[in-house]
Amino acid sequence: MTISLHDFIRGLPKAELHLHIEGSLEPELMFALAQRNGVTLPYASVEEVRAAYAFSDLQSFLDLYYAGAAVLQSEQDFFDLTWAYVQRAVADNVRHVELFFDPQTHTVRGVSMTTVFSGIARALRQARQAHGLTSGMILCFLRHLSEDEAIATLEEALLLREQYADLWTGVGLDSGEVGNPPEKFSRVYARARELVFHVVAHAGEEGPPAYVWGALDGLQVERIDHGVRSEEDSTLMQRLVHSQMPLTVCPLSNLKLCVVKDLRQHNLARMLRAGVCVTINSDDPAYFGGYMNANFIASAEALQLTREELVQLARNSFSAAFATPEQKQQWLAEVQAYQDTH
Ligand code: ADE
Ligand code: ZN
Repeated sequence: MTISLHDFIRGLPKAELHLHIEGSLEPELMFALAQRNGVTLPYASVEEVRAAYAFSDLQSFLDLYYAGAAVLQSEQDFFDLTWAYVQRAVADNVRHVELFFDPQTHTVRGVSMTTVFSGIARALRQARQAHGLTSGMILCFLRHLSEDEAIATLEEALLLREQYADLWTGVGLDSGEVGNPPEKFSRVYARARELVFHVVAHAGEEGPPAYVWGALDGLQVERIDHGVRSEEDSTLMQRLVHSQMPLTVCPLSNLKLCVVKDLRQHNLARMLRAGVCVTINSDDPAYFGGYMNANFIASAEALQLTREELVQLARNSFSAAFATPEQKQQWLAEVQAYQDTH
């Protein structure tokens, strides 16, 4: 008997490579932390928060996302936030996560770098112990701020590198894209590469294909976050296919931020069928209406993805992970075993 599409997706082993931990802050936890920390929110109820999540573009979301993050103050807050995400990931059979975090959002408010690292890392280490969920942390620079501020952030975080060597694997670039091209950060990326960090960057979410070229050639990234506008440039598409450069695509995010009008118009399936190494991810699930399986299900239904294609997406997520070849082989074998038995 063949199982339903939902059950097939639920059981499929997968990796999440594009998840902003601050974007997993559910309104209920936002309220609880606001109360714990004596922070006044501009909302009367959880329902009012949810109602405010009607975005017109990336910036309209970022304004609320940064305001919401202000409730995160103590080490325990960062632990609770990350632990709540871990529960969702495990429920969706996410086997590995590489999460983004934005230290500048917190240090500017007087929260220490140590508090941020420690709370997130404690939850991730507990997740490994309790659930076998493996993970990495990718420190993102806020691109609306200066490169000097990014350099200062990297230098400050380096004091903690040894303590978090098991988790902190890379650096990334997020926040408002248009007007902040990747090349603005070429020096801090050169430094990060010299320090043997993995490097990724958001590009081609709202920004033009030139920003994807900038991330590839200017920053020498190993994955592109989003990258959906790459399709507008056929030479770039050839480059992505030939190099098998992974794109961490976030379908429900693109829908909520009006990058696409309708999920049926999303280019995920077209890019997959053209041979691009695309993956499915949740980005900021508390704000965009769904975690990993919700993104898989919505995409599968809107784009008529076959089970083979869903398996390919899961395979891509493990191939694109920052892990040892042995670890990847093990995951890929699990995906193969799943396909063979379902
Ligand atoms: N920060 C959190 N989510 C983001 C996104 N989708 N794009 C850019 N910056 C972000
Ligand atoms: Zn993102």
